[in-house]
Amino acid sequence: MSEYYLGHEVSGLTGATDEGHWVMKFAVIGGTGLIGSQVVRNLNEAGHEAVPHSPSTGVDLLTGQGLDAALDGADVVVNLTNSPTFDDASLAFFRTSMDNLVAAAKKAGTGHFVILSIVGVDQVPELDYYRAKTLQEDILKDSGVPYSIVRATQFMEFVDAVLSWTSDETTVRLPGTPIQPIAAADVAAAVSDVSAGKPLNGILEVGGPDVYPLTELGRITLSAKGDTRSVALDETAGMFSAVKGDVLTTKDGARIAATRYLDWLK
Ligand SMILES: NC(=O)c1ccc[n+]([C@@H]2O[C@H](COP(=O)([O-])OP(=O)(O)OC[C@H]3O[C@@H](n4cnc5c(N)ncnc54)[C@H](OP(=O)(O)O)[C@@H]3O)[C@@H](O)[C@H]2O)c1
Repeated sequence: MSEYYLGHEVSGLTGATDEGHWVMKFAVIGGTGLIGSQVVRNLNEAGHEAVPHSPSTGVDLLTGQGLDAALDGADVVVNLTNSPTFDDASLAFFRTSMDNLVAAAKKAGTGHFVILSIVGVDQVPELDYYRAKTLQEDILKDSGVPYSIVRATQFMEFVDAVLSWTSDETTVRLPGTPIQPIAAADVAAAVSDVSAGKPLNGILEVGGPDVYPLTELGRITLSAKGDTRSVALDETAGMFSAVKGDVLTTKDGARIAATRYLDWLK
């Protein structure tokens, strides 16, 4: 038997709503975060039952506290957590959190495990955080649990932080790395759709509609905010200086989101 929800064939469903949709139960770990909170809202608005979990609700992936109860009865586990730091400690975060969550998912018989990763993540081994996210993907691929990996490009919400890392009072130094910014709401929509569908047992890339050299993205951003600092090209500045070529942009087959950076800035 197979059932359909919003065009996706799905399995292991929990029941039908009054409107005839099948209701699925989602445990969204990191469901209080930027992406997680929007995924919870999207899924609940679509008639599903999505519950957010995080340390603030008593669920901690690092200690395992509250995990079994969080996954009990969940058809799908969506992991939208993030490491508190981007340095080499992020490797331990993603290893421990994924080991604990995979073990709990196997125990609970979870039918679909979804994570959010980064386009080109395995192409920048010079960055600790990217190696940590690649490790997260590898643990999931090797887990034996049906899975989907959504890889997104850089969030529009993240651009200010990137500029702040290499700026002083007069100048923002940036490399010319091609960046394809995507709105967090568009990322959340893609994660929600994938989570409510059949496991891909593979990767879906999602990205914004435009690619900019990071220097141009910086100039556009400062100008929109009336910030009079200038942008200087510096191929050694900040974490994106480690990126070679266009590895952070989407390739054929990607889902391209509608929101443009210039409109989002307004
Ligand atoms: N930024 C980008 O451009 C970009 C691009 C592609 C992919 N991504 C990926 O997107 C994902 C989500 O990012 P985000 O910005 O939405 O993150 P975020 O806003 O920082 O939210 C992180 C979430 O993780 C929870 N969390 C932290 N430690 C936890 C633990 N030990 N156990 C359980 N939950 C824990 C937090 O809970 P509390 O609120 O209780 O602390 C929060 O709900 C990340 O994995 C990131 O790699 C980011």
